[in-house]
Amino acid sequence: MTGTDAMTTDRHLYRITGGAPLKGEVPVSGAKNAVTKQMVAALLTEEPVTIANVPRIVEVDLVVGMLRQLGVDVDWTGDHEIRVEAGAIADSGLAERYTGANRIPILMMGPLLHRVREAVIPLPGGCQIGKRPIDYHLDALRQMGAEVTEQPTAVHVKTTGLVGAHITLAFPSVGATENIVLAAVLARGTTVIHNAAVEPEIIDTILMLQKMGALIEVQTDRRIVIEGVRRLTGTTHSAITDRVEAASFAAAAVATGGSLEVIGARQADLTGLINTLHRIGGGFAETSRGLTFYRARDLTATSFRTDVHPGLLTDWQQPLVLLLTQAAGTSVVHETIYEDRFGYTLQLREMGARIELSTACLGGDACRFANRDHAHSAVISGPTPLSGRELEIPDLRAGFAFVLAALVADGTSTISGTRYLERGYEDPVSRLTAMGGQVDTVPVG
Ligand code: EPU
Repeated sequence: MTGTDAMTTDRHLYRITGGAPLKGEVPVSGAKNAVTKQMVAALLTEEPVTIANVPRIVEVDLVVGMLRQLGVDVDWTGDHEIRVEAGAIADSGLAERYTGANRIPILMMGPLLHRVREAVIPLPGGCQIGKRPIDYHLDALRQMGAEVTEQPTAVHVKTTGLVGAHITLAFPSVGATENIVLAAVLARGTTVIHNAAVEPEIIDTILMLQKMGALIEVQTDRRIVIEGVRRLTGTTHSAITDRVEAASFAAAAVATGGSLEVIGARQADLTGLINTLHRIGGGFAETSRGLTFYRARDLTATSFRTDVHPGLLTDWQQPLVLLLTQAAGTSVVHETIYEDRFGYTLQLREMGARIELSTACLGGDACRFANRDHAHSAVISGPTPLSGRELEIPDLRAGFAFVLAALVADGTSTISGTRYLERGYEDPVSRLTAMGGQVDTVPVG
């Protein structure tokens, strides 16, 4: 199956029988949201860039396909190592089949503008978690000297040369920050991003760019200053481990009453998660290879809001919500990154969870979704037993929460929409089975 087929078709369903605690050890993959951007950064040089710790996931396959379509040489040089050599760029347009694929093509605008002066980029489209516009991306490129023409399913950009600019983001967007950095490293003059996002995956990509010869300073007040250089060189880089995957396994250990050594998990990237798990009743210990997570006591309710880094990551919200269905008392979760990221809870309710959604900003300060009629707060009452049923995954992160729900539920669940989960998790079935989960696959049809 190609990367694009895997966007629309499940390879199989999962059948999961709940009740077994997850135990043992599990290696964490490299971070999807760092690696895929680093593959794009490799377009900024004609020399080879080798990236290690690359997860074997559909999302990476998709980016490999996109780069190859542009005429770039991409080879797997190891199980988890990839070499990208953009000696020449044969095509400045990405094929229409990538419309709605993911957020990666929009990050190619800057590199393609530097290399071939113009690009046609298919639009990412909205998705199950919110509208996800790209206005910050396009405004920033305009400020840097790109001519941007928006078409119904694509955006056409061209330039006679990108120049540095002072850009203030209305919200610290991860993708827009990355887009500006990738456009600014080879632009003429200095670019300052005010109100930039500083997620660990962005910093990791900046570290790679520094090895390529870029001049980038990350300042303490959400300011990133990029001094354009004339050229960048090849490099080798090992991507950081995936803090979303690490958190997923940590939540799985606590939810199932087990204990898992998550090999490669880094405490520094997980401090907010660890604090939240601690409040709920999860414990952790550092090992020579990573972190062990376990259930320390009976689970109790807690409240939190998701936020930009260093706040709690929105991609941790779903496994934590599932955990809170098993905790005694009332928890409040306020999602402040995406306006519509609780849709998946309807299926958890059908399993027995007690979750009420609210359009109000519950549990603390108002966020930018206040008074806008988005159901972005959740009140969870627990503990509630869950019962196995048919589930359909709507998006990647909800996918792991469903797997977790099935692992703690009484009886057996059959899960479809596994293509979403497999975009971001390498080999989930064998890894869950190795941890003691009763999980197998069922052919589709
Ligand atoms: N936004 C705008 N206009 C823009 C850009 C963003 O209004 O031009 C808004 C979005 O609609 C959203 C908020 O700003 O409400 C934050 O979006 P951001 O740009 O930070 O997110 P992203 O770059 O599209 C990345 C990850 C997401 C992760 C978020 C937040 C990738 C490929 N995706 O998305 O990861 O949730 O940052 O950390 O890096 C996932 O891995 O499953 C995933 C969804």
